[in-house]
Amino acid sequence: MSDDFLSRLGLECGTDKATWHEYTPFYDKLLSGKLAEYTKILELGIYRGESLRMWQEYFDKAKVTGLDWDQSVVDAARQLDPHISAFQVDCGSAQALNAWLTRAPAFPEFDLIVDDASHKKAHQTTALRTLWPHLNVGGTYIVEDAEVEGFHLDPPDMGVPHCVFRAKSGGVSVCYFKGW
Ligand SMILES: C[S@@+](CC[C@H](N)C(=O)[O-])C[C@H]1O[C@@H](n2cnc3c(N)ncnc32)[C@H](O)[C@@H]1O
Repeated sequence: MSDDFLSRLGLECGTDKATWHEYTPFYDKLLSGKLAEYTKILELGIYRGESLRMWQEYFDKAKVTGLDWDQSVVDAARQLDPHISAFQVDCGSAQALNAWLTRAPAFPEFDLIVDDASHKKAHQTTALRTLWPHLNVGGTYIVEDAEVEGFHLDPPDMGVPHCVFRAKSGGVSVCYFKGW
């Protein structure tokens, strides 16, 4: 197991980003220089909220938002920490994502967006294209488990650099860098 800061937090929180998949050593290399800069984090796919807690502890000044289509998961996540918000949204639907964005108080902007929801290529592509305008310059957009339906084999060209990381588990994460 890796001993970087994010992996230690991920193991404490119990997310499979640190256990089964071991994405966290790679994410730590990418993001450790952004700890002071990133203050708005969005993750699609909450489950037990383990990664929301991990991100909140990693970016300790950040506001962390989670989206999930399962209301019971959203209700549980709302109890986790005052800096963590959760909303029920179908992240595979541009209409549902746009409706949620429209309800937000001002133009919502994020520094880091992580898609760990359905892992379906059509959903991943829809979410990426819908949420991309809401990623700040200097931000990172991660599509996790991009191997499941081969998203990584034909990743949308967002006009910015991207990289593909294959974890020991065989899981693949595609990361887009907006203006950095
Ligand atoms: C892999 S789990 C998330 C794990 C969590 N991010 C972590 O690392 O601890 C996937 C979650 O995505 C949710 N999900 C699946 N399809 C979805 C969709 N279309 N829209 C929103 N949430 C979805 C599931 O309900 C489940 O809670």
